[in-house]
Amino acid sequence: MKVGIDKIGFFTSDLYIDMVKLAKQRQEDPNKYLIGIGQKKMAVIRPTQDAVSLAANAAAQILTEKDRAKLGLVVFGTESGVDNSKSAAAYLAGLLQLPKNLRVVEIKQACYGATAGLDFAQGYIMLHPQEKVLVIGADIARYGLNTSGEPTQGGGAVAMLVTAAPRIIAFENVNTAAACDAGDFWRPLGETEARVAGKFSNNLYLDLLQQVWQEYIKQTGAKLEDFAALLFHLPYTKLGLKGLRSLTTGADATTSVRLFKQFEAARMYNCQVGNLYTGSLYLSFLSLLKNSLELQAGQRIGFYSYGSGAQAEFFSGLLQPGFERQLVQINPAQQLAERHEISITAYEQLYRQQAVQAAELKLDFANDPAKYVFAGIHEYQRSYTTH
Ligand code: HMG
Repeated sequence: MKVGIDKIGFFTSDLYIDMVKLAKQRQEDPNKYLIGIGQKKMAVIRPTQDAVSLAANAAAQILTEKDRAKLGLVVFGTESGVDNSKSAAAYLAGLLQLPKNLRVVEIKQACYGATAGLDFAQGYIMLHPQEKVLVIGADIARYGLNTSGEPTQGGGAVAMLVTAAPRIIAFENVNTAAACDAGDFWRPLGETEARVAGKFSNNLYLDLLQQVWQEYIKQTGAKLEDFAALLFHLPYTKLGLKGLRSLTTGADATTSVRLFKQFEAARMYNCQVGNLYTGSLYLSFLSLLKNSLELQAGQRIGFYSYGSGAQAEFFSGLLQPGFERQLVQINPAQQLAERHEISITAYEQLYRQQAVQAAELKLDFANDPAKYVFAGIHEYQRSYTTH
């Protein structure tokens, strides 16, 4: 039985900053951010958006009434959870008014959460082929103003519907993994900003890539030339480029040219959004699907998922006939083009208002054009609304 991604949707903030302006303000050479980090723009998340509302805005793009009726499970991958006990998936199910006979769960393993969600979804669909699973990756990446991590922030959500007989990509069921207990990136309880050992995190990402790739090659006998494209978790797009360079050392010229060309298509959206943590790999997949002119049904796509702390996985899938038709309704390029640029001062103000912890909070969401918004907190419980 084929299982995989049948639909995919994406949402991010309507606000962004220009990386050249951020570099100038931080007295850095703009090329450090544009080339060294590989980012052009960075999403700025409003205080009236959090992981739940971002997810709702992404999921609403893909869920029809028929999909809702067949949903058996919602798996919400996030490291920007809004409660220590109640899952973001429970809030999401309420906000989207999903059917009551569901299982809803939140998964946390840094940027790996959505990949774990896809793995669990596959198992669920194998047992319940008539049902559908909604997998979410939604996060807000925060490191702190004036820190070296600042240019690698961002935020947004990717929603995927996993089904039998999927119409976008079918997984091939060889998933190679590597796990270790590492202090490369973490966010202590009660803190709103991540701590990071930047250079160590880069090295670990690249080391685990080699481990899971070599194991995948060993188990499948596949070769680099068997892949139409290789996708990477993109905390910032330069790191994916380094990952691709490390896998293509010694590759033949035709394969190398193809994979680097596809990588450019696969980072187009990520360059403009920044890190959305667990959704980043899947935004890159969407970017490839929408921006590559060379994809064909039957081709193999490789995915490298990495979540700090650390967990890595490599897996692959085959593009399904007519996959383009499943993407017609989704227009991230337009969504990104319609955003508004804000000044660095305005970004700093919004940054300070984001992620407020309070018993009571009333937010003014009149200016937020998103359909689903975070409206406030009453007796420590979050409330969301549509407008
Ligand atoms: P930094 O120390 O400010 O930057 O932090 P740098 O000095 O290393 O420079 C970055 C690159 O720009 C270097 O290139 C420079 O040479 C280049 P590289 O050596 O890497 O090839 N550069 C220039 N290039 C062109 N023109 C110039 C110029 N100047 C310098 N004028 C760092 C960079 C990424 C470490 C920092 O931003 C950071 O700590 N970010 C957060 C951590 C992170 O993203 N880690 C990635 C791996 S961990 C991961 O992916 C998981 C994560 O998503 C979280 C999760 O799992 O939940 C983060």
